[in-house]
Amino acid sequence: MFESVSELPISIQKLMNKAHQARKKAYAPYSFFNVGAALQLETGEIITGNNQENAAYPSGLCAERVAIFHAGSVHPTMTVISMALTAGSVKKENTTPIPPCGACRQVLAEYEVKQDQPIEIYFMGESGKVVKSKSVKDLLPLIFDSSYL
Ligand code: THU
Repeated sequence: MFESVSELPISIQKLMNKAHQARKKAYAPYSFFNVGAALQLETGEIITGNNQENAAYPSGLCAERVAIFHAGSVHPTMTVISMALTAGSVKKENTTPIPPCGACRQVLAEYEVKQDQPIEIYFMGESGKVVKSKSVKDLLPLIFDSSYL
């Protein structure tokens, strides 16, 4: 746990800054809850995403999945080193770290298994403390993966 963004390594501060920028472009006219994600690839490239909602509610997608599906589609052999997440409501200021939802954890786990290297996840609200998870496995114990198929 970090007390604020300023305690993070500089490269992660930069990544979180990209996530904040992405959050501000989220399309969330139904929940008014904006989420931004930024992925750091091994190549140094940063790929972002934000939540995209839909009038048919379940058709929308979380920021994390928008980001990682985009990254995977453009760079099929990529390795993701880290992911920064920020979330907040238009209705109230959010200073509590907000973790990825269960469905996003499952999707992120697929890529972690695929690349055989952990993905670090840093998550926060709009401001305040930042939580670091060293691996998706820490957020999703007893992971279901392709080894069971
Ligand atoms: N949301 C995300 O983008 N990521 C999460 O991990 C949790 C929820 C989005 C989905 C929806 O657009 C809004 O936040 C409210 O649930």
